[in-house]
Amino acid sequence: MEVFMLLKMLAVVLLLLFCDCVEDEYSWMMMYKQMKKLGVRSRVSGNFLNEIPLGDVRLDPDSIHGQAQQTNLEYLLMLDVDSLVWSFRKTAGLPTPATAYGGWESPNQELRGHFVGWCTSIVLLESFGHYLSATAQMWASTNNDTLKEKMTAVVSALAACQEKMDSGYLSAFPTEFFDRFEAIKQVWAPYYTIHKIMAGLVDQYVLAGNSEALKMVTQMADYFRKRVENVITKYTIERHWRSLNEETGGMNDVMYRLYTITGDTKHLWLAHLFDKPCFLGLLAVKADELSGFHANTHIPIVVGSQMRYEITGDPLYKEIGMSFMDIVNSSHMYASGGTSVSRIESFSKLGDSIYFEEAGKNPGVYIIQYISSSLNWKSGQILLEQKVIPVASWDPRLRVTITIASKKEGSSSTLNFRIPFWTTSNAKATLNGQGIPITSADDRSDYASLHAILYGPYLLVGLTTGDCDLKAESGSLSNWITPIPSDYNSHLISLSQETGNSTFALSHTNTIVTMAKFSNPGTSDSVFSTFRIILADSSTSAGISSYKDAIGKTIKLEPYNLPGMSLVALGKEIRIGISDSLDPKNSLFRLVDGNEGTVRLESESQKGCFVYSSDGSVKLSCDSGGSDSGFMTSTSFKANNGISQYHPISFVAKGLNMNFVLQPLFSLRDEQYAVYFKLHS
Ligand SMILES: *[C@@H]1O[C@H](CO)[C@@H](O)[C@H](O)[C@H]1NC(C)=O
Ligand SMILES: *[C@@H]1O[C@H](CO)[C@@H](O)[C@H](O)[C@H]1NC(C)=O
Ligand SMILES: *[C@@H]1O[C@H](CO)[C@@H](O)[C@H](O)[C@H]1NC(C)=O
Repeated sequence: MEVFMLLKMLAVVLLLLFCDCVEDEYSWMMMYKQMKKLGVRSRVSGNFLNEIPLGDVRLDPDSIHGQAQQTNLEYLLMLDVDSLVWSFRKTAGLPTPATAYGGWESPNQELRGHFVGWCTSIVLLESFGHYLSATAQMWASTNNDTLKEKMTAVVSALAACQEKMDSGYLSAFPTEFFDRFEAIKQVWAPYYTIHKIMAGLVDQYVLAGNSEALKMVTQMADYFRKRVENVITKYTIERHWRSLNEETGGMNDVMYRLYTITGDTKHLWLAHLFDKPCFLGLLAVKADELSGFHANTHIPIVVGSQMRYEITGDPLYKEIGMSFMDIVNSSHMYASGGTSVSRIESFSKLGDSIYFEEAGKNPGVYIIQYISSSLNWKSGQILLEQKVIPVASWDPRLRVTITIASKKEGSSSTLNFRIPFWTTSNAKATLNGQGIPITSADDRSDYASLHAILYGPYLLVGLTTGDCDLKAESGSLSNWITPIPSDYNSHLISLSQETGNSTFALSHTNTIVTMAKFSNPGTSDSVFSTFRIILADSSTSAGISSYKDAIGKTIKLEPYNLPGMSLVALGKEIRIGISDSLDPKNSLFRLVDGNEGTVRLESESQKGCFVYSSDGSVKLSCDSGGSDSGFMTSTSFKANNGISQYHPISFVAKGLNMNFVLQPLFSLRDEQYAVYFKLHS
């Protein structure tokens, strides 16, 4: 079966009007993903779609999701067991071989921030809980037994620490933190970290079948239950509620999950005792006072309360969950949905949430996300393969091919496809070559105003160091947001020179052309050092398949991130600048052959004058008389293909002061960008 969906360039209204890049703490997708939980064994009967176990989904290794998963697997395999458990052993008074991951020299930049900062060991601990979850999820997604050995060794090392402490307590900081927590004294959220460790152990049990992990988390639960019990009996329940003003993460959630595994009602009531009433109560009465609450603290509590509903069927908790989603969806939502990289776990479960299933005599499978993958759908006795052709900006169709093989004769099941909100009404499906009708329930229309830009499901961001003013033209969106053609990458050039031992590239900063250290792709410097060649004779532009085809021709050089602008030479010995060509002839240069495979840029308006680099500055300089070899060297540049390259999903958007290159957020690495734009009509 094939499904074609037309991507609609969708303008969304969001509450943020400024340009700073923001964390997606309120991302609807993120919360949605957290709201359905892994490993739930017993629930009230209701219309819940069940998650397909991670172990039954495999990502296509050639897809970007498959590649991201592999990178993350290799990263997790690199971590050292002794270093990971170092501070746990220290706290338990056990020998500590190796060194702690404190002064971490991580090759993985995104994580480094977790390991430095004012309280290294505590931040590290939070990451530690993530490690347990991430490895469990990764193992379920790949069945890589090298990883299983490693994570099992970590769990065993922790078990030894727990046994040594002999109370059920397991942490890398002393119990004294909890004394202060219960006394309402200053302390850094100890339950937040404990929740992560407990959740990690639950994942190790549920996803990787490690029963030692279940035993450990149960002992931890008993230890903390006694602590809470003690606060309530010795003091008051109010005292306990007051202590919850300190961040407790998803303690309620992990206790509800544990209850579904153990069926022990003591676990259920401990979960209840972490449902923060002053917060959930507000939701229950639909008071929109969320803005005052710290999101990191409260999203996990709502996730836990949704779990309470799924387990107990208590309609109040359904109300609370719905009310929260409504409030968030209507006003507290940011646009960078699902792309935060601040939690390593998300890369370990990329196979998560692609498929859901519905039990019953005639079981159903729901294809929720279009990601190249295969599914071994056990209850439907079906092997399903999904192949997605990557989307590009110049072809607004998403093509998905689904191949189904039945494992059992004569069984029947239902396939459901999500028609995402970002498709137009022209989605088409064919089954074995025959068209089949499809119904789309979502007819929401474009909004008139726009602050973040989505192309289908992809959040587009603008390459910019600050400016974020868009010039919206009347009429169709396509008047001011246009796709970058697929062949433009072959028109890109970076020009370099060797000086001493270093390589410098022609670059620009604040509309002045400079020489900057030659940099790797995926950085702001690579963006600034890349230019697009535009042939002056526009009728032939399309014909160039590399910068080499432009040698001997008259060209303009457009900075990669400033579409519509170009290099300009204003006069002799004046620095080369960037502008939108007040006098077009100042931006014309002839690209000529220089020494030993280099190229030179000769001004068209001032013949015999060349772009000349000395001591980091770049000016127009004129040949005084032939034989000056210094002049030749300073005007000769090695030509390279553009260091930055356009992603297949790239657009140019017209701006008030500058135009923007828009690319999907996921395609960027360390480049500066803006997610939110101000609209001017
Ligand atoms: C686990 O993955 C790593 C990295 O891809 C690989 O080198 C190793 O052979 C795998 N282990 C097993 C048992 O497949
Ligand atoms: C979020 O809000 C939009 C626009 O009001 C609405 O169409 C959509 O159904 C809402 N989504 C959820 C999950 O409530
Ligand atoms: C260039 O490299 C050589 C040998 O590696 C070194 O001795 C010299 O100091 C370097 N020069 C500069 C300017 O960095």
